[in-house]
Amino acid sequence: MSMENAHLCLDAGCAINARTLGGDMHGHEIKVTFQPSGRSVYVLPGTVLLEAAGRAGVILQTPCGGKGTCGKCRVRLVDTPPVPSAASVGILSPKQVEEGYRLACCTPVDAPLVVDVPAESTFESQQQILTDDSGADVEVSPLVHKRRFELPLPSSEDPRADLVRLRAILGDIDVSPELMRLMSAFLRANEWKGTAVLSNNHLVALEAGDTTDDGYGVAVDLGSTTVVGKLFDLVSGRECGVASAINPQVTFGDDVISRIMHVRENDDGLAALQASAVECLNTIVDDLVSQAGIRADEVYEIVLAGNSTMQQILCGYDPSALGEVPFVQAFEQAQILSASDLGLKVNDAAEVYVFPQIGSFVGGDTVAGIVAARLDRWDKPVLFVDIGTNGEIVLANGDQLLATSTAAGPAFEGARIRQGMRATAGAIEKVIIREDVDINVIGDAPPAGLCGTALIDAAADLLRTGIIDETGRILPADELPAGIPEALQSRLITEGNETRFVLAPAEDAAGDEAICLWQKDVRELQLASGAVRAGIQIMLQRAGVEPDAIHRVLLAGAFGNFIRRSNARRIGLLPQIPGDRIRFIGNAASLGAKLVLLSDRERAYAAQLQEQTEHIDLSLDPEFQMAFGMAMIFPTSDIDACED
Ligand code: FES
Repeated sequence: MSMENAHLCLDAGCAINARTLGGDMHGHEIKVTFQPSGRSVYVLPGTVLLEAAGRAGVILQTPCGGKGTCGKCRVRLVDTPPVPSAASVGILSPKQVEEGYRLACCTPVDAPLVVDVPAESTFESQQQILTDDSGADVEVSPLVHKRRFELPLPSSEDPRADLVRLRAILGDIDVSPELMRLMSAFLRANEWKGTAVLSNNHLVALEAGDTTDDGYGVAVDLGSTTVVGKLFDLVSGRECGVASAINPQVTFGDDVISRIMHVRENDDGLAALQASAVECLNTIVDDLVSQAGIRADEVYEIVLAGNSTMQQILCGYDPSALGEVPFVQAFEQAQILSASDLGLKVNDAAEVYVFPQIGSFVGGDTVAGIVAARLDRWDKPVLFVDIGTNGEIVLANGDQLLATSTAAGPAFEGARIRQGMRATAGAIEKVIIREDVDINVIGDAPPAGLCGTALIDAAADLLRTGIIDETGRILPADELPAGIPEALQSRLITEGNETRFVLAPAEDAAGDEAICLWQKDVRELQLASGAVRAGIQIMLQRAGVEPDAIHRVLLAGAFGNFIRRSNARRIGLLPQIPGDRIRFIGNAASLGAKLVLLSDRERAYAAQLQEQTEHIDLSLDPEFQMAFGMAMIFPTSDIDACED
C-alpha cells in the first residue's frame, strides 16, 4: 500500500487552505471526510480508505494488517456507500453491509465520501496506556552534563591555542570539526566564559552564560502500539512531564510482522515507517516541553527502549531479516545516533541512545526491563514476564539470566477474538461469573466487545464453574455438571457443534448483537496462553528450577498490569504459585529508560546485563512443540484464589 496517493491532510480545525474552498474535487483528487472528528483529506481515485484515514490522522484498528480478514477496520459510509468488496461481504453481517458498513482496508475511494468512524474501530485517546513505572531512585550522573568555565585571556606570555586553553579547564575533551569552526568566535564573543555541554568527554555544545541548571532529557518506551515519553531534568533527576500517544505505525499493521512485511513489500516502506515514528516522537517532545515550559533545544538527550523491530525501524536499519528464519537482528550493542540526523526536533547536538538487544524478539525494552527489575541481584529464582503479541520471558537464577520470546499471538490484545477489541471505550475489561455475570466496561459506554483481560476472566471463571472443561470446550446446557446456576445456563447458546456464552445480552450492547465468549475465542486463548506457559516451562527446565521454587513472578508492561493474577494462573498463563509471589512492576521499559538516561552507571549496567543474558530460541528447542501441545490443556485446578 503506497502513501503516495493521498496528497493533503486538512483538519477541520486548521487554517483555511485554498483546497478547502473548492468543494469535493480538486482536479482528480476526491474529498473524504471522517466523522466525528470532521477531518478531511483529498486523495487520488483508487486510494484505499484505510490509507486516506491514516493521512487524515484517523488511526483505525488493523490487526490483520489490512488483509481484510479481521473486520476491525469497519467504518460506515454515509449517503452513498460504494458496492461492498468481497471481503466486506464475507466479514460483515448483511445488516451491517446494508447500513453502509465497509472494511476500510478493502474499500477504494472513487467518489467523495463522508465516513462515520465507530469508536471501536479506532485507537482512541481512551486506550489504556501504562505510563506508571513504579519509580526508582537513582544517583543522578547523566552522560550529558554541563560545566561552567572561565578561561584566562590569551596574552603574549600565554599564547596557548584556544583548544589547549579549554582542555586545561575541562580535561581531555574531544571536539568535533563542526564545533571547532564555531569555538574560537564563541570564546571571544563571550569574554572567554560560558557553559560547556559534555557527553562523557565529548564536547557537545558551548552555551553563553551559566546554563548549568538547564538541561533536559527524554526517556521513551517505544511500543508497537503505544509510545510513552517522560521528560527529566538532568541536573536534579526530577520528572518534569509525561506524554503518551498511539504509535501511528499501527496504520501499517498492528503487529511487528505486518510492519516488517510493509518494509519488505514497499520500496519506501522503511522510510515511511521511520518517518511515522519520528513524527510521533516529535509530537511527544512538543507535549513534554510545553508541559514543563521549556524550549525543545534544552533537550540534550533521548534514551529509547523498544522491541527489536521498533528500534531498528527508528534507526533506519532494515528489519526484514527479523521476519524470516533464522530471525537475525541488526545489532546487539546500544546504538548512539544524532537526533538531528533522525529529524528529531530537540537540541541540534542531542544524541539518541537506543537500548542494546538480546535477540530478534527480545529487544531493548526487555533489556530496559531487566535493568529496572535488577534481575541479576535476586538471590532466588525470579521470572520476569511481559505479555503482549509476543510474550517476553526472562528467568533469573542467581547469576544465570535466560531470555526468550514466544509468539503469544494477538488474542490478549483482543485481535482474532470474534468480538474482541483493544482496551478502549466500550470494551468489557472485567468479568466476574458467580451466580450470574458481572461485567465492567471501559468508559461510560455500553459494551461493544471484550478485551484481553475480560477474555482471561471469562475463561477462568467458566473453568471454575465447569462450563468450560480442561480441553477448552464450552459445554452445551445438556452436558453441564450438576449445580450450575440457572442464570448461567440460560446464557449458553448452542448452534451445531459449537456453544457460546453470552456476557452481555443484545439489549445491553452497543450494537444489535449480544457480546459473547465464542468457542473459537477459547481456542485462541489456549494458543496464546499455551505459548507463554510452554516458554516458561522450557526456561525453568533449562535452568533446573522447579515451578514451586519461583520466588517472584514480575509482571511488566501494559497487559500484565491490567490482568487479574488469579485468573491468569487459573488458565495456566502463570505458574501455580501463591498470588503474593506475583507482582506487577508497571512500565519496566520506561523505568529502565529513565535509569539509563539519568545515570552513566546504569548505561554500563545495561550493557553488562545484555552481555550476561543468554538468548533461548524456542523455535530451535526440540521440546518446545511438545510442551506447547501439553500447555494448551487448561490446568484442572488452581492452588488458591489470591486477591487481585
Ligand atoms: S479487515 Fe481491515 S484491517 Fe483487518
